[in-house]
This record gives sequence, structure tokens and C-alpha cells, in this order.
Amino acid sequence: MKKKILITETILRDAQQSLIATRMPIEDMLPILEKLDKVGFYSLECWGGATFDSCLRYLNEDPWERLKTIKKYCKNTKLQMLLRGQNVLGYRHYADDVVEYFVQRSAYNGINIIRTFDALNDIRNLKTSIKAAKKENIHVQAAIAYTTGEVFTEEYFVNYAKQLEAEGADSICIKDMAALLTPKATINLVKALKKAVEIPIQLHTHYTSGLASMCILEGMAAGVDIVDTALSPFAQGTSLAPTESIVAALQESAYDTELDLILLNEIRDYFINLREKYIDSGLLDPKLLVSDTKALIYQVPGGMLSNLLSQLKQSGQENKFEEVLAEVPKVRKDVGYPPLVTPTSQIIGAQALYNVVLGQRYKMCSNEFKALVAGKYGRTPVSISAEVKKEIIGDADVLDCRPADLLQPELNNLKKSVKEFLKTEDDVLTYSQFPEIALNFFKHRS
Ligand code: CO
Repeated sequence: MKKKILITETILRDAQQSLIATRMPIEDMLPILEKLDKVGFYSLECWGGATFDSCLRYLNEDPWERLKTIKKYCKNTKLQMLLRGQNVLGYRHYADDVVEYFVQRSAYNGINIIRTFDALNDIRNLKTSIKAAKKENIHVQAAIAYTTGEVFTEEYFVNYAKQLEAEGADSICIKDMAALLTPKATINLVKALKKAVEIPIQLHTHYTSGLASMCILEGMAAGVDIVDTALSPFAQGTSLAPTESIVAALQESAYDTELDLILLNEIRDYFINLREKYIDSGLLDPKLLVSDTKALIYQVPGGMLSNLLSQLKQSGQENKFEEVLAEVPKVRKDVGYPPLVTPTSQIIGAQALYNVVLGQRYKMCSNEFKALVAGKYGRTPVSISAEVKKEIIGDADVLDCRPADLLQPELNNLKKSVKEFLKTEDDVLTYSQFPEIALNFFKHRS
């Protein structure tokens, strides 16, 4: 039985986010966009995630202009973005009117597929973005933040996938941001999901631990329909499996992608030169390209490892590194096993660090950590015990509703507060995500 596997190319978003801190400007993309469009990828992931922040903060680029430019040169390929559910592209919960308008404008400016996820896998935080995408008639893919731990059974993931399908998702993505999947875990999970839902399954697994290509192959045999890859110059390490290698591996097999390797290699030549430029400027650190199975041992994503280490180094306490790593799963257990992905990875990592460095657990807690315990990010996969709650937030109330239910519509107020700087319909959304940097950008744009 033949089954053509579809490929989502991620070089313009996740791959460059994972390897060069999302610093690829549109000028570096322009010369190759038309060729990328000719390949016949299922989709081109090119927007959302950290690109929005990076455009404004570091590249002095209007992210909406970037999207429109990519659309102009890629007319035949579906453009895909990553959205953090109710957090949109920022780090807090937004009122529904902001989420709705953001999705509407993304679709209007060229997005065909929205991949939306919530760090806690709390479906209530995805409802508005899913509904908004349906309204725009674009494909909405709901992503499951994949993680491991005793509560993350097949049943847990199947149950979540069924809810996502019922909510209206057009497809489901297994989002393995921390590269925790092994080939065996992939087979089991994909089989269980294929049995439970009708909609297509897409596999997104990072290369960090060096297992991604194996997981992809096994995942396909188990029924995966679409896979995420990155063209080889920006593949492997903390990025994804190399596109050309996956295409070559599948040629003449039942899963042949039917993509043209010669054309892919022409595109590769372009990006190889670009890669050299980023290595020379120090943006691409070859250390990120070495496989690292520590993620599998500590269940801590690669980015979090290096963050913790650098924080410890700053205070001359590198010798506490292993102790902090061992504390991470304990903190995670205490607060209901949140998957470790933005923003929970930063929150849990910082708390583990405090617990070890201060020599007493929960002596000091960040506001974000308290908010997590108080339900302000949503419902954790497992409920938090009364003792832990008491220890961290005392007798403060715990939120039981969807966090955004407490938010009043914000768009009009946002518009009012930056009225004099608004030049386009999208500016207010830019401002909503990163007010200070957006203002700075508005003031200095030509
Ligand atoms: Co990713």
C-alpha cells in the first residue's frame, strides 16, 4: 500500500529559531523564496513562535510585512504559523478579542495553517484560537505538548487528542519540543492516536537527542501523515531532522514524498552559504549541533540545560548543576507535572534553581511560579496537593475557570493607548504582544 508522506519545511521558523536564536532577516530569505515555493512542500512553517518577537526586538522588521512578503513569493505553498493558544505570541493570557483579531489578521495576511498549543495541555486555553481559525476557514492544527512522566500515559494523550478533534481541530501535531520521543514511544503513541481520532497526525520532533530521524521512520510506519523537517544546513542538533535525508530515505518506498532532490540540493547550496555567514558572525554555535541524550535522562529540554548552567555559572555555583537537574522533576511533580515548554520550562527551571541554591525548598518563589500554582496559566495535568498549595500560595484563591474568562476585552483600550502610532490595521496587534518594544519600533520605523 502506497502512502505519500507530506513534509512541512521549517527552515524559516523553527530551524532558525533553534539554531540561530531566530535572527534570520527577511533579506536572507528573499533570494530563495520562489525556489522554496516550487518544491511542493505540504506547508512552509515561516511565522509565529519567536519570529514575531525577534523581528521587532532585534531585526527592526515589521513581522506582518515579513508575512506579506513571503506570501508574495510563495503563492503555491501553504504558509504555516505557530501560536501559543491564548498566549498568542506573547507570554501572558490575552482577552478573547485579541486572540480572535490576531488569528483573523494572520489569515488575512497569508497564513493557511495555524498550529496552536497550550503549555499545560489545557484545552480551555485553545478553544478561542481554534474557533477563530475555523471562522477564517483556515486549517487549524492543535498540538499536544509531548512530555514524559508517570501520568503521561497513552490514555492521557488519546484523551487529549479526542478532545482536540471534538473541538474542531483539522489535524493533530505531536509536538516533541524537548526531543523526548524514542522510536518505540513514537510507535506506541502514533498507533494509539491513529486508532482514537480520524484527523491526520503530524510529527514534530527535535533532533537534540539524535533520535528524530528514527522516530520519523517508525512514526510513518505506525501511521503518521505529515512530518516536520528542516533543510540540512539548518538541521540536526537542537533543530529538526534534515529534509533531504528524509526525502532520500523514502524514495521508491511506500512513503515516497515525491519531492525533487535535485531542486532541494539547489536550495541547500543557498542555505549552506548563509550558514557559513552565521557561523562566521558567531550566531550559529557548533555546540548546538552535537547530539545530547541528557534530555532523555533528566527530561529537561536542551535550551533549559544551557540556561540553568549559565545562571549557576554567574553565581559561581556550577558545582550545584546536577543537584538542580535532579530538583527539576521534583518541582514538576509538586506542581502537577506541567510539560516543560515556554513558559513553564522557564518557571520550573528557575524554581528548581532557587530551591537548591537557597538550601531550602520554596523558601523563595517567583510570581510566575505562584501564578502557576494558583491556576492562572490554566489547569495542570494533575491537580496540585493541598499541602503544596498551602506552602506556596498560602490561603490565596486558586483559579478554577479558564484564565481568559476573567479578562475584559482589551482591543479598544490598546488602540486608544497608542492611537498616534498606529499606521496599519495590524499595528495594534503588534503592540498587544510586546508593548515596549513595539512602541520603540513604531517610533523608529522609517
Ligand atoms: Co519545535
